[in-house]
Amino acid sequence: MTTRRQWLKSAIAAGAGLPLSLSLVEQLMAAPVSRAERLHGIEPILNGKLVRLGSNENPYGPSEKARKAIIESIVEGNRYAHDVARQLRDAIAKKEGIAPEYVLMGCGSSELLCLTGMSVGLEGGAVLSAYPTFRLLMDYATKFNARWDKVDLDANMVHNLEAMASAVKSDTKVIFVVNPNNPTGTILDSVKLKNFCIEMAKKATVFVDEAYVEFLDQPEKHTMIGLVKEGHNVIVSRTFSKVYGLAGLRIGYLIGQPDTLKKMADRQVWGNNNQAGLAAAKASLEDQEFIQMTRKKNAEARDYFCKYLDSKKWFYGKSHANVVLLPAPKDGKTILEETEKRGFQIRVWDYQDKEWCRVSIGTLDEMKAFTKAFDQIVA
Ligand SMILES: Cc1ncc(COP(=O)(O)O)c(C=O)c1O
Repeated sequence: MTTRRQWLKSAIAAGAGLPLSLSLVEQLMAAPVSRAERLHGIEPILNGKLVRLGSNENPYGPSEKARKAIIESIVEGNRYAHDVARQLRDAIAKKEGIAPEYVLMGCGSSELLCLTGMSVGLEGGAVLSAYPTFRLLMDYATKFNARWDKVDLDANMVHNLEAMASAVKSDTKVIFVVNPNNPTGTILDSVKLKNFCIEMAKKATVFVDEAYVEFLDQPEKHTMIGLVKEGHNVIVSRTFSKVYGLAGLRIGYLIGQPDTLKKMADRQVWGNNNQAGLAAAKASLEDQEFIQMTRKKNAEARDYFCKYLDSKKWFYGKSHANVVLLPAPKDGKTILEETEKRGFQIRVWDYQDKEWCRVSIGTLDEMKAFTKAFDQIVA
């Protein structure tokens, strides 16, 4: 494992004509989030050989409609996809009841999170977020010399909005909220979040990452897109990677004030879209049947896994998405080694001087097999 990791590092560094131990090299591989992952490594190379409970993907995608659309899009593979990107942007705007200028398309929502983080750094200032949460925006902000202010989750592993409000400083440029959160799947009360956004948007841009919102029974009750429409300084990010099952096809978007999005668009990489991904996303946008199926199957598999955790009397945050975070019942490095030996990939996080296992929800069969393997590991 270590050898392969070192080889990969050397190969990338040699190809780029750069010395080893550069952060660029680390950036090109999935970033470890804990001591255990740094010791053990998280190898994208092994992905094909393991049951993937490490990236919060959708095991049922792409949908039939998306597959058909991808195949049909092949004939357009020789053409730049700007028109199709515009069509998808218009379809999203129509669905949300806003003008197209309120929508910015990206190469996955990751591109847009990176751009936002980079902008905080370039313009000078700080970003405030809960911790643990999806850290890409903050990682980019800090790469570009911004400060990252973190506020621990509350005892139920939910964003602590009161503590976050108190942590806003005069140079806070972006307040980042993930709802439902990754790595916990926990959600905020929608009225509380709405009030928080309205108040905080007077001081900084509030960025609400809704990558998992479609896993909720009533996403329309939880989304903060309404605040954008009302003119607040709020940005919402969405992705086709999760409920829509298109993570490898890289389509995401922001909903925000047109002037804010325009500034971001100026810093985007040109040609960040692709025919197959756009075609799949267009075909998936209104595919309620597939969304409902994913939601239902995910809930069944998640309930099974949570019942297993309950039977062990283990603490975990109440997940409403396709991921659960629980305190590691054993040393994190051993857990990574032993789960991998048994054919599963999960993640280990560090938080409050403890190690935590982040387990994505796979199919019911995968969760049954995983709990059997986990029983052996913790025995
Ligand atoms: C909260 C959250 N936001 C954004 C992303 C990035 O998704 P993508 O770039 O595939 O849209 C992820 C991926 O796991 C995530 O968990």
